[in-house]
Amino acid sequence: MAGEHFLGEIGNVLLSRPELLDGVDPRIAQLFRWHGFEEVEHKAVLFDAFHAARGHGFYSYAVRIAGLWIAVVLVALALPSVSYRILASAGAAQDFHAGRGLLRFVFGRGGMLRGRWRAIAAYHRPDFHPWRYLDNRRLLSELRDTIVDPAWEVRAR
Ligand SMILES: [Fe+2]
Repeated sequence: MAGEHFLGEIGNVLLSRPELLDGVDPRIAQLFRWHGFEEVEHKAVLFDAFHAARGHGFYSYAVRIAGLWIAVVLVALALPSVSYRILASAGAAQDFHAGRGLLRFVFGRGGMLRGRWRAIAAYHRPDFHPWRYLDNRRLLSELRDTIVDPAWEVRAR
């Protein structure tokens, strides 16, 4: 649930700040926009399913918050290794400037994760809900035609 909330945040950053993908191969940029779109689209599904099954008591709140902090610790532990692999895949594992550029892209002024602590803080509210925190469904509907190819959509049975 916490991961989906946070991926929804990253998806919103990608959709609302298209300049972040300036200079990216258009095919890759399209893939990232689509992925951001679908992460926002389903950001509340797991949250709703969990609470439909477990209710809204202290137990479900404790599980939700424990999951958040387990995820935060795991991501913090994995981030250096993942960053190194991203740089290595671009042949820049030993390139100090490339490493600094990646850090700036993620954490720097205007970076993807800059200010996202608000999303983590909001998640602790007992009445938190992904759509109540940020209802960006209007943005999704405005962007749908530029991001989602109708040929990709298969009617669910
Ligand atoms: Fe997701």
